Amino acid sequence: MMNAATQVFAVIGNPVGHSLSPVMFNRAFSEIGYNGVYVAFQVADIQQGMAAMRSLGIRGASITIPHKVSIQKFLDEQDILAENIGAVNTVINTDGKLKGYNSDCLGALTAIEKVTPLKGKRVAIIGSGGAARAIGFGVTSRGSELTLINRTASTGEKLAAALDADFIPLSEMQSLPYDILIQTTSVGMTPHIHRSPVPAGFLTADLLVMDIVYAPLKTQLLKDAEKAGCRTINGLSMFVHQAAFQFELWTQNPAPLEAMKQSLLDCLDNPVSFTHGDS
Ligand code: ATR
Repeated sequence: MMNAATQVFAVIGNPVGHSLSPVMFNRAFSEIGYNGVYVAFQVADIQQGMAAMRSLGIRGASITIPHKVSIQKFLDEQDILAENIGAVNTVINTDGKLKGYNSDCLGALTAIEKVTPLKGKRVAIIGSGGAARAIGFGVTSRGSELTLINRTASTGEKLAAALDADFIPLSEMQSLPYDILIQTTSVGMTPHIHRSPVPAGFLTADLLVMDIVYAPLKTQLLKDAEKAGCRTINGLSMFVHQAAFQFELWTQNPAPLEAMKQSLLDCLDNPVSFTHGDS
């Protein structure tokens, strides 16, 4: 039941029409009886978006494409991790003071560390965009040895230099001598569900394979990995864990993980269309 005390939360981005976050967070609020509502705001100008957040007293926001980097200069403060990554996807408003965090990084680390520790592991990330940057920063901060694999060499080399990682062009990948492989590109996403950036023959049973694509839940890469005997992590895991971090930051309550996960599974059973990287 909404009333004058209801706290407002939002996903802010452009576009946001296909975001799964409103369904997931509203389900989470009702699950624990929290007096909150979560909506989607399509915002072209993030400076105005942050001004609105302050003036309307919006308590928290998930920030998505294309604002994760440009938002930084309109915040009062940033968590050290977000500052080091150079991207913010989470904002909390405390009496008009806006602080930014990066839950993409923390969500990915939780998803992996539920399966295996990262210290001393050889990790390869396919892709060199915003998601690769956040996850790459996280895994190196946990003591993993990182290799980036990317289609465009100049982009990959630049990120590899920033993360102190090795770099291999995707076209020159011959084998996968790693412990963990993390796929961060949009390859394999609906509707191109039969595509994978990795030839199936490169996958060996000792690899842990994670795909951040969650539509479909079982991408071609994950199907191939399962067939090769690999352990796998699907895109829902990172998505739910990054959202759980936001929920706990905003409400100071433990996130109802199972209900959040189920709300997403319900949506994915009835797909409309999904955007890569969309919160
Ligand atoms: P995000 O912020 O979600 O990570 P992004 O910044 O657009 O998204 O990054 C997309 C990544 O996926 C890039 O590394 C891109 O490779 P390029 O640097 O070569 O553009 C990669 N990518 C996208 N489509 C791809 C494809 N068809 N094959 C290989 N890599 C692809």
